[in-house]
Amino acid sequence: MARRPIIAGNWKMNNNKIEAKELIDGILYGISSLDAEKMPEVIIAPTYTALWQAYDLIKNEPKIALSAQNVNPNPSGAYTGEVSLDMLADFKVKFVIIGHSERRQMFGETDEFINQKALAILNKGLIPIICCGETLEQREQGVTDAHLRTQITKAFEGISASDAKKSVIAYEPIWAIGTGKSCDAAEANRTIGEIRKVIKELYNEEVSDNIRILYGGSVKPSTIVEQMAQPEIDGGLIGGASLKADSFVDLIKGAM
Ligand code: 13P
Repeated sequence: MARRPIIAGNWKMNNNKIEAKELIDGILYGISSLDAEKMPEVIIAPTYTALWQAYDLIKNEPKIALSAQNVNPNPSGAYTGEVSLDMLADFKVKFVIIGHSERRQMFGETDEFINQKALAILNKGLIPIICCGETLEQREQGVTDAHLRTQITKAFEGISASDAKKSVIAYEPIWAIGTGKSCDAAEANRTIGEIRKVIKELYNEEVSDNIRILYGGSVKPSTIVEQMAQPEIDGGLIGGASLKADSFVDLIKGAM
C-alpha cells in the first residue's frame, strides 16, 4: 500500500504580508533542488489574508499546494467574518483544515458543524483535513480511543466511501500541541492504527488502506524521521516548526 506522505504547515494566526512572502520564498528556495518524485505532498495553510499572495507566489510551483485553515459551509450570505468555499476556490485552494482543537475549544465548533464543513468541502471538490485528538484528562482516564471513535464517526457522517478515501485525517493530541512535547512515535502509531480501524468499520478496507492519517503536535525536524518510520503515520500537520523556512524544508526532507 503506497500512501503518498503529506507535510502540511498550519500557520495558525501568524505571518503578515511581508513575513508570509519571506517564508514562502524561503520554502521555494529550499525545495528547488528536491526531486519532485520523491517529495511528500507539501501543503501550506496560511491565514485567509495571506492566501492571495501565497497563491500568486506558488501558482507555477507544482511542489506546493494550498490549504485554508477554516471555511464556512454555507455558499454565501449573512455570515459576518466568514469565508466560503467559492472564495477559496479562487485561489486554487486544494485542502481545508477542519475540526482543529483550537477551533473546537476556543470557538465552540461542534462535531455536527465540522461534519457540515466536511460535506461542503468534498461537494466542492476540495479535500478536508479533519482533525481529531484527546485532552490530557481523556488520555489519563483511558478514554482516548473511544473519544477519537466518536469524533471520527460524527465527522464522516453522510460522506461516501469514494469521498472518504480522498480525505485526510490529522490526529493531534491536544496535550502535544504547542507544548514541545510530542506524542511518543509508537503510541501515535498505535492511536492512528485505531483511527484506521474505525474508518474500516465505517467503510471498508479499501478506504482504510487509502485514507491518509497525519500526526500533529510538536512535530520538529528532530522527531519527523522516527514519526515517518511508523507504518500508520502518513505525515505531519505542523504548527510552530512550519513558520521557519529552514525547519519546514528539513521536515520535508525528513519525510523523503
Ligand atoms: P505545533 O506543531 O505548534 O505543536 O502545532 C500542531 C498543530 O496544531 C498543527 O495543526
